[in-house]
Amino acid sequence: MARSIDTLAVHAGERRDKAHDSLVTPIILSTAFPFQDTAELHQYFRGEVARGEEYGRYGNPTQEVAEARLAALDGGEAALLTSTGMSAIVTTLLAMAKPGMHIVITADSYRKTRVFVREFLAKFGIEHSCVEPDVAAIAGAITDKTKLIISESPTNPYLNCLDLAELAKVAKARRVKTMIDATLATPFNLRPIEHGIDIVIHSATKYLGGHNDLLAGVVVGRKDFIDAVREHQGMLGALASPFTAYMLIRGLKTFGVRMRRHNESALRVAQFLERHPQVERVWYPGLPSNASHAIAARQMAGFGGLISFTVKGGLEDASRVVDAVEIPFLAPSLGGAESLIEQPPLMSYYEKTPEERTALGIRENLIRLSVGLEDCDELIADLQQALQRSR
Ligand SMILES: Cc1ncc(COP(=O)(O)O)c(C=O)c1O
Repeated sequence: MARSIDTLAVHAGERRDKAHDSLVTPIILSTAFPFQDTAELHQYFRGEVARGEEYGRYGNPTQEVAEARLAALDGGEAALLTSTGMSAIVTTLLAMAKPGMHIVITADSYRKTRVFVREFLAKFGIEHSCVEPDVAAIAGAITDKTKLIISESPTNPYLNCLDLAELAKVAKARRVKTMIDATLATPFNLRPIEHGIDIVIHSATKYLGGHNDLLAGVVVGRKDFIDAVREHQGMLGALASPFTAYMLIRGLKTFGVRMRRHNESALRVAQFLERHPQVERVWYPGLPSNASHAIAARQMAGFGGLISFTVKGGLEDASRVVDAVEIPFLAPSLGGAESLIEQPPLMSYYEKTPEERTALGIRENLIRLSVGLEDCDELIADLQQALQRSR
């Protein structure tokens, strides 16, 4: 029977009969998995016996459970767990890299992904075009050498949403693979594979882990593709530890409960901010005023927990708000139980001048808020008192 995302988040990927009659998946710390004898070793390398593990860098049983659960949540054939979101991106791109290939990437994407494509892959003769997160702009940038389109939905920090079915159609017509970093959406709100996207990436550090206490990443896609990325992980070695895999499995059990709360609270906070006289503009795809609202409402189950907004005034006025809030922490990252607040021009672009930041589209008075699981009325009251100080 097909299971809902709530049931999958609790059970998918787990055997019911576990070692030592354990109810929960055990943490298997072993770095090597002995063979009974040479005959079994021969059978293993000939692919004649079904045993998962050999050496820890090629995987471990706790990681396997996490991967099966993540694949089920995203509706993909297979998943690969990695040490961080960035290692999911880097390992996947290195597995796909071919000299002379061309990549189309969108501008409002995670900064380090763009830096990796622009500064690292370029050293090996891989070219790219960076365009606005818009299907027409992406389509216009595809050349005969294009092998991959990289984007996010929603993007960070301006939460643009791409029409993924439209993107997949355009890409398939040109035989180009599509990769969507859906960290901000999560499989609770958006399953890109259902819209025809080939590869899905998440920083599991965020909502999938959900408690601001683990770093991990995941790649989801077709089994043959994930196997190829796994081969590269075996060389690059960017694995999550068995303990991290366990923490992720544990965090995912409350995934549905947490995501509903993030969605509900962030929508209420965004509506509050949009009405506040000290707020200049709010970016949240759940607001009807948002340019992506129609697409997001069509393809997402909820709009997520991240909000970007500008306050009236400049960088210092925004800093006053950030310093005056009592509940959110001033910190990077997003997607955990604790609300986090930050100024992208400082947190992500500190070394740039105001002019450079403006040229990159990063407004000086921009604030990014990751709405956590605290009482929403108390969060709104906290923002209310903090916004009074920006005057
Ligand atoms: C959209 C997005 N993708 C990827 C990453 C990288 O993930 P990690 O920090 O787990 O390496 C982040 C981190 O902030 C992110 O926001």
